[in-house]
Amino acid sequence: MLFGEHTQWLCLRKTMLDFSDTSSLSRSGTSSSDLIALDSDRPKILVIDDHSSSRMTAVALLSVEGYEVLEADSGPAGLKRVVEGNPDLILLDVMMPGMDGFEVCQRLKEDEQTRLIPVVFITALNDRRSRIMGIEAGGDDFLSKPFDRLELSARVKSLVRQKRLNEDLDHAEQVLFSIARAVESRDPNTGDHCERLVSMGKAFGEYIQLPRTDIRNLMWGGYLHDIGKVGIPDAVLLKKGSFTPEEREIMILHVTIGEKICKPLRTMHGVMPIIRHHHERWDGSGYPDGLAGNAIPYLAQVFQIIDIYDALTSERPYKRAFTPEEALEIIAQETEKGWRNPKLVQQFTDFIKSAQMEETSASPLNAERSAFSSAEC
Ligand code: SIN
Ligand code: FE
Repeated sequence: MLFGEHTQWLCLRKTMLDFSDTSSLSRSGTSSSDLIALDSDRPKILVIDDHSSSRMTAVALLSVEGYEVLEADSGPAGLKRVVEGNPDLILLDVMMPGMDGFEVCQRLKEDEQTRLIPVVFITALNDRRSRIMGIEAGGDDFLSKPFDRLELSARVKSLVRQKRLNEDLDHAEQVLFSIARAVESRDPNTGDHCERLVSMGKAFGEYIQLPRTDIRNLMWGGYLHDIGKVGIPDAVLLKKGSFTPEEREIMILHVTIGEKICKPLRTMHGVMPIIRHHHERWDGSGYPDGLAGNAIPYLAQVFQIIDIYDALTSERPYKRAFTPEEALEIIAQETEKGWRNPKLVQQFTDFIKSAQMEETSASPLNAERSAFSSAEC
């Protein structure tokens, strides 16, 4: 089923709950009652701001996005509301009489019960001092007034997703996902790439009937496969033109750096082949090990096709977004050249085509929504 903006977090939330822990397999059955339960479990955003007009703007924008919105007009009222309402995210004004936003944030971050709730400070544009103090107080992000609707929506979506994922991960895993998120924000080329990989990984994994743990690993790979880019300098990572041989050598390191970062964690064991081998090629001409054919771990083969398809169908500064047909054609040509597993490429092609057929037979509303996101759930 193709899904749009509003339902996307629901799918991700659900899939992360299902797959974040192999012991949670009993929670994994999808039924319509699950979806209804999720629907009534809309993410809750608390807006703490003493100015009723800016509070109302935030409330209006977030309600349209489908969030449940709570309000408070002062720091102490906000802290009380957090305890009562258990929000998934807090939008916090900095300048408030009595207890200011920094103090509210500090108190929340000191409390074991509330420290995982992301806090987004609302600051005036270019208020550098407030931003620095906000970081010191433990704030997770910033938004400037007046709100940019798209920016508000993207920040909130990403932080809510991260928070709900964090609830199911242990602390060390949370650190890895945070590093991956930092890498994603450093590279403006990627946009929502990782998020789409996660949902497409789940959908394709189910299509080819992978075991549940493999699907979980595929989804975690969506977030973590390029985590090693944290060690790649901006001059290479953000370069627009093609790489010199020396720069290419540096870029190649991202797979081994990523492996080193994740290796100490036992729960990452199944994701490691994706991290290390997602740039191998079927004919042995890839990196880092030049593995050929089925010597390439199967999940890395599966992941690679999804990664390439999403890169092709997304717009990048150096290319337009190709249509699904064009992307499949390019992948077919690369398969002719010997770079990909022909059987898997055929399965992926069938999968995309069947998803497209489902999309065209869906209601006009769904078709319109799906224009916002090409990901599958
Ligand atoms: C990437 O992993 O996104 C790019 C790596 C490469 O250019 O080889
Ligand atoms: Fe990569």
